[in-house]
Amino acid sequence: MSCVPAVFQALRTRSEAGRTVSRVERTSPEELSGGDLVLRARYAGVNYKDCLAICGRAKIITEFPRIAGIEVVGEVLESSRALFPLGTEVLVHGFQTGIDFDGGFSEIVRVPAEHAQLLPSGLTAFEAAVLGVPGFTAAMALERFEQCGLEPDSGLVAVSGASGAVGLMSIAILSKAGYRVAALTRRMDQEPILRQVGAVEVIETRITLESQRPLEKARFAAAIDNVGGPVLSWLLRSMHDEGYVASVGNAGSNSYEGSVLPFIMRRVQLFGVEANALWPQRVRLWDRLAGDLKPDFTTLMSHVHRMRLEDVMEHAALQLQGATSGRTIVTFPEVS
Ligand SMILES: NC(=O)c1ccc[n+]([C@@H]2O[C@H](COP(=O)([O-])OP(=O)(O)OC[C@H]3O[C@@H](n4cnc5c(N)ncnc54)[C@H](OP(=O)(O)O)[C@@H]3O)[C@@H](O)[C@H]2O)c1
Repeated sequence: MSCVPAVFQALRTRSEAGRTVSRVERTSPEELSGGDLVLRARYAGVNYKDCLAICGRAKIITEFPRIAGIEVVGEVLESSRALFPLGTEVLVHGFQTGIDFDGGFSEIVRVPAEHAQLLPSGLTAFEAAVLGVPGFTAAMALERFEQCGLEPDSGLVAVSGASGAVGLMSIAILSKAGYRVAALTRRMDQEPILRQVGAVEVIETRITLESQRPLEKARFAAAIDNVGGPVLSWLLRSMHDEGYVASVGNAGSNSYEGSVLPFIMRRVQLFGVEANALWPQRVRLWDRLAGDLKPDFTTLMSHVHRMRLEDVMEHAALQLQGATSGRTIVTFPEVS
């Protein structure tokens, strides 16, 4: 007999009279998109992209109704795959989860088995959820730096949007790997937190608007940019010779202005990072996140906010205004 409940709660996003509307609704398994694994969700990270999707602020979901949530950690309730026996804890992100497939903002989640992976040994379900897409993205950027030859003694690594989820994870993971990190934040009230997580320097983001020189003082060996716009322009102008800039996010702007001088005069390299990695890299980086890159969770935990599914809409509006900080996780109730 299946132990999948006949009715459960999900945050469903609909298009109503041309407007995107999201609300928590009673839902049945038949209404979920296809897949051969059914999970009881335990944790779902609330990402910037989810906030855009459920508030209709960007054209992320194109088929309605849809359950957003680009990542989920859950326990297998129904499976036709020997790799995923009942009760196994799995992690799902990418593969258009929460976009073209129903995602994590639901007590019950159905996914194709090809999208799921076993939790790496060395991480609890909650630790994997805390790291989630932000931690994985930070690890992708770090691996790319390493492939370019960056080493801890190469110099300071800048992280912008530092008090956000990717920012905090980037600081924690880079410092675990031995790098010295400079945090860029609009909110200097966050300085103690950023230093606690591992930043050795905290710079107010306003500095990026103070000068428009074609090249600034060379400060950084590498940078992870979560913001775009003038922040990305300034970072490019502030790199050492042979500096590396990973463009990860657009929390401030989709565009940026700049000259070719950082590329020509300092041979700076700019590349993009997208968390939807192929399987070998996924497995490799999750193993590293459970191993040599595993951050100090006792420090991180005080910057993790847990909430109920019912609270996600109110939180999303604030996150899109840049009025939140840290990592936010939906915690689903244990069902007996
Ligand atoms: N490439 C990928 O695969 C990938 C994966 C995950 C996330 N992302 C993207 O990365 C970005 C950050 O994601 P997140 O989850 O960290 O989001 P988040 O938790 O909302 O953090 C974003 C941070 O950016 C800063 N910020 C927000 N609005 C800003 C503005 N208008 N101007 C300047 N700074 C601003 C704030 O940090 P301070 O207050 O400290 O300045 C904020 O905490 C988003 O654009 C997201 O879509 C991309």
